[in-house]
Amino acid sequence: MNGRVQDRTALVMGAGSIGPGWGNGKAIAVTLARQGAQVMCVDRDPAAAEETAALIAAEGGTAVAHVADATSSDQVAAVRDACVDRFGSIDILVNNIGIAPVGGVVELSVEDWDRAFDINLKTCFLGMKHVIPQMLAQGRGAIVNISSVASLRWSGVAYAGYYSTKAAMNHLTRTTAVEYAARGIRINAVLPGLMRTPMVENSGALAQDYGAGDIEAMWRKRDAQVPMGHMGDAWDVANATLFLASDEARYITGIELVVDGGITLKFA
Ligand SMILES: NC(=O)c1ccc[n+]([C@@H]2O[C@H](COP(=O)([O-])OP(=O)(O)OC[C@H]3O[C@@H](n4cnc5c(N)ncnc54)[C@H](O)[C@@H]3O)[C@@H](O)[C@H]2O)c1
Repeated sequence: MNGRVQDRTALVMGAGSIGPGWGNGKAIAVTLARQGAQVMCVDRDPAAAEETAALIAAEGGTAVAHVADATSSDQVAAVRDACVDRFGSIDILVNNIGIAPVGGVVELSVEDWDRAFDINLKTCFLGMKHVIPQMLAQGRGAIVNISSVASLRWSGVAYAGYYSTKAAMNHLTRTTAVEYAARGIRINAVLPGLMRTPMVENSGALAQDYGAGDIEAMWRKRDAQVPMGHMGDAWDVANATLFLASDEARYITGIELVVDGGITLKFA
């Protein structure tokens, strides 16, 4: 099935990948482009933004890389202006940026708590703040916020900042969705479960928590936790995002689409 977001403009915040391989943001940008969207790939890491845009161009798609720190209101406003200047509209916004500093309320530093709120929640707030007026002017838009099943319950790791910011992101998604539902803008969240991505692989603290620093031990442990018997990957997140961004989801707003191989339903 091709052209599911044909000729739409997609703005993907955090479109790079923290390390080699396929992160969620990179796979989302490429998937939207494969389905006909022109994509602005935003990342604070210039090489990461360029890599994703180049991958899209190499497949014959349309993409531009844009460097910005999405915790800065001025820079996010400039991203919106650059996207409209280049493509004439913003039909899809994906807020993908997130980090998972490990530590419960006692261990987590105040700096990491603040960093989690800045990077996970403020970027989502600023993305919606600056892009929604453009979508209102167009009379339509679809926003997808990348949350986590950690927003719903304990997920096996003590990371108080991650749990809190992702839960807040869900509620911001729901309430903003209601606010704009009558004006053509749909806002939904995707909640990935345990995914095998560079973000997890490159977090030394997560590997430490799962398997005393042994990455393979961490993968085995995470696979075993999931009812389906294995982790998901970035394409699972990208396909869910594509669905919510497309007109196939035209009557869906304010939902949390769980993409987790069943782990959220599991008791033990
Ligand atoms: N991998 C998993 O297991 C998993 C599970 C649940 C949810 N998630 C969520 O998926 C999202 C990230 O997935 P990913 O695989 O794309 O991660 P990633 O770390 O590979 O990519 C995120 C990109 O965001 C960029 N970025 C970070 N801070 C930024 C800022 N201030 N301004 C602009 N860009 C910035 C990074 O440079 C990076 O390229 C997060 O929201 C995360 O919470 C991941």
